[in-house]
Amino acid sequence: MTESHDAVDVIRTKRDGARLSEDQIDWVVDAYTRGVVADEQMAALAMAVYLRGMDAAETARWTAAMIASGERMDFSSLGRPTADKHSTGGVGDKITLPLAPLVAVFGVAVPQLSGRGLGHTGGTLDKLESIPGWRAALTNDEIMGMLDGVGAVICAAGTGLAPADKKLYALRDTTGTVEAIPLIASSIMSKKIAEGTDSLVLDVKVGSGAFMKDQDRARELATTMVELGERAGVATTALLTDMSVPLGRTVGNALEVRESVEVLSGGGPADVRELTLALAREMLDAAGKADADPAAALDDGRAMDVWRRMIAGQDGDPDAALPTARHTQDVVAERAGVLTRLDAYGVGVAAWRLGAGRARQGDAVQSGAGVEILVRPGEPVAAGQPILTLHTDDEPRVARALEALDGALEVGDAAPPVGEVVLARISG
Ligand code: URA
Repeated sequence: MTESHDAVDVIRTKRDGARLSEDQIDWVVDAYTRGVVADEQMAALAMAVYLRGMDAAETARWTAAMIASGERMDFSSLGRPTADKHSTGGVGDKITLPLAPLVAVFGVAVPQLSGRGLGHTGGTLDKLESIPGWRAALTNDEIMGMLDGVGAVICAAGTGLAPADKKLYALRDTTGTVEAIPLIASSIMSKKIAEGTDSLVLDVKVGSGAFMKDQDRARELATTMVELGERAGVATTALLTDMSVPLGRTVGNALEVRESVEVLSGGGPADVRELTLALAREMLDAAGKADADPAAALDDGRAMDVWRRMIAGQDGDPDAALPTARHTQDVVAERAGVLTRLDAYGVGVAAWRLGAGRARQGDAVQSGAGVEILVRPGEPVAAGQPILTLHTDDEPRVARALEALDGALEVGDAAPPVGEVVLARISG
């Protein structure tokens, strides 16, 4: 096949700060997927994009080209509105688990095609796989069957959705080009638009435990993604939410499932419940169900009923005991006072090193590993009182986890101001 462009010309165009034409973008994304553009050429282009940026029209075209690289799903035959949520990734972020069944209570179909954790942020599939028997890989027919019968499904995104992104994301991960806003936005939105949801709520995390450490960058990412969604006909809103402190009182796979079940029982930590309800309200509004009362559905067991059917529908046993780690060790307060700081990044890295996360794609994770947070910022502690409990199957991992926590905890004299969970809302 004769190629219509030359990779070096495309790289030079962006390197020198010019706009890429629609034709150049369509060609380079397709030729990379076909293996005609080499990894080192795409890496050079990704770095040029990182340094020079892409404008809104270029980013939209890049997103469309990544969607066109694979299949598109279509849920229109369900005859019900569909709503999805995507989080940019955080520490202790288990919200998808209670949220999907909660929104399904109100007759909205919730397709949550999810991923695994990499680095210090956890992955939804890793968490659910700690439930004995539960299966992440479903066929398209099984996904439709779950949405039709149960109303919600959380499963692995198949290899057919935006294959250009799968290849490009792996390349960016090893070439220092992840943090480019047009590349993050097109990566996330190509998968969400290809999935075929009617509406999408983005949970854009801000703070030490997130990709975006400051609010201005997070707002720019959120605005870019909302525009991409709206251009593609997906009703999209974004909440900027705090990720300077871990969410809730658990970080790690089975530990987070346990906490999610508490939220589905009407309890659980206040911040986890608050964010679950804020995102549920956004999804229900977008699906035309503004009158729904999601708090009541957590309190009266309706969300729990859907959860149980959702887990059982993928061969999981919702009543089985969750795995626990073989070894635990407490981290105690050196002095009495109030906990003033609990850094999300430090706790995330500690959980990862204890075995909750993976260093490379394909590594196994430990279901029981992670960090339990016994004291949260603003709460009093006595000298010697445990603040955290570390869980792992391999005791030697504890030393490296403790190193990650060095400087992540602070006990002071006065309670810090109470931070908001939801920092801002961005809509189209
Ligand atoms: N998540 C994605 O899917 N893609 C990115 O580029 C970053 C986070």
